[in-house]
Amino acid sequence: MAKTRSMYVCQNCGAESVKWLGRCPACGEWNTYVEERISKDTSRPGLVDVSRNAIPKALKEIESNNERRLDTGISEVNRILGGGIVTGSLILLGGEPGIGKSTLALQLALGLKHLKILYISGEESARQVKLRADRINPDNQECLILNETLLENILTQAENVSPDLIVIDSIQTLYTDTIESSPGSVSQVRETTAALLRYSKTTGTPVILIGHITKDGSIAGPKVLEHIVDVVLQFEGDSNFIYRILRSAKNRFGSTSELGIFEMQSRGLVEVTNPSEILLSHRDEALSGIAIAAAIDGARPFLIETQALVSSAAYGTPQRSTTGFDTRRLNMLLAVLEKRAGFKLATKDVFLNIAGGLKVNDPAIDLAIIASILSSTFDSAIPGNSCFAAEVGLSGEIRPISRLEQRISEAKKLGMQRIFVSKYNKGLDTKVEGISVVQITKVEELVRHLFGRN
Ligand code: TYD
Ligand code: MG
Repeated sequence: MAKTRSMYVCQNCGAESVKWLGRCPACGEWNTYVEERISKDTSRPGLVDVSRNAIPKALKEIESNNERRLDTGISEVNRILGGGIVTGSLILLGGEPGIGKSTLALQLALGLKHLKILYISGEESARQVKLRADRINPDNQECLILNETLLENILTQAENVSPDLIVIDSIQTLYTDTIESSPGSVSQVRETTAALLRYSKTTGTPVILIGHITKDGSIAGPKVLEHIVDVVLQFEGDSNFIYRILRSAKNRFGSTSELGIFEMQSRGLVEVTNPSEILLSHRDEALSGIAIAAAIDGARPFLIETQALVSSAAYGTPQRSTTGFDTRRLNMLLAVLEKRAGFKLATKDVFLNIAGGLKVNDPAIDLAIIASILSSTFDSAIPGNSCFAAEVGLSGEIRPISRLEQRISEAKKLGMQRIFVSKYNKGLDTKVEGISVVQITKVEELVRHLFGRN
């Protein structure tokens, strides 16, 4: 029997309350409570299809036939997923609007030529999808497109065609008849996802869900979604730039340390197999304000340019503006510079860019950022064959970082002749042929090394 009751649901985290609240006690967000009608259907099955007569089994009795994986044809995506799409898995592909989620999903669908793909578009008409497909390589006219947002109809069609893979663009447009609230609300998103999960687990069909992400980085409404699905992929980047990063934030069938870089071209997304070459601008003349970081994100090392512009603040409050870097972290590094290198924080505007607008989650780029700020302050260029790899602590100490050997060998491979690292990296072999490893302990030493002053 289905009972309906009215509840207030936080659209950010899915917390419920009987009365309206200004601030969600669970996630701390303001003005996120919306009234929804929730049906309590006691006959509804749970997320995983559990048989009534299930009995406990010892691990050794459970069959673990190695899961079958679909090769997506895009090697970066295969790598991030841990070797392809596992049959019966539910994959959430999240990202901000306009980043390229629909393009990536359609490219995956078109690339799987030998399989039957059902692409469900709730956002664009079939003609729009066709126009997009015409731009993308490879050409695959067999891919099935369905314009539908009612879950029950989608499941009926899925049973009719029994596809090998379903793509849903997007989960926020789907709705089910059993719930009264509007599409995109937490209860609709939760309910439709749970139904798709049951479908994918019982039929073994993998389902890719596209989900929009709100500004604060959580998948809209559906933080609730993240624990239901098997894999969460995040598509990031600045839509003003052509580079995009695909990361896995959760993966039940592989590691989450992999990441892939793509370039958005006029014919869709193209994999970037050697990121260092594009993230460094090879110029003849050295310019001030530029420093190269030897970063590692995910499993692979790459060199990336950081660029700073320091100028006198025209007004009372100095400006701090960053692309691809946390502004609070920048403020911290500036405070370290004020204390250790006589940098006058209050009188300077500071602008900071990471090449390609990429957001790199690696503390080891701190030292390159400090170097680029100093270089712009002194208006003195750092030689283009020097790079940096260390974290900077609050007292200006240069801290050790992980996997330094890998970074040094990547730097060497790209023709760097000098790399600045922390002296505290234990057991590091500093006598590497072809590149001089400079070990420093404090920010002051960096200033002395680079610009010959204190
Ligand atoms: P889209 O996949 O629609 O983004 P999302 O589904 O995440 O909202 O793509 C967004 C942008 O990509 C769009 O502004 C145009 C651009 N684009 C290209 O540059 N080249 C292409 O081949 C395609 C299909 C899109
Ligand atoms: Mg889209």
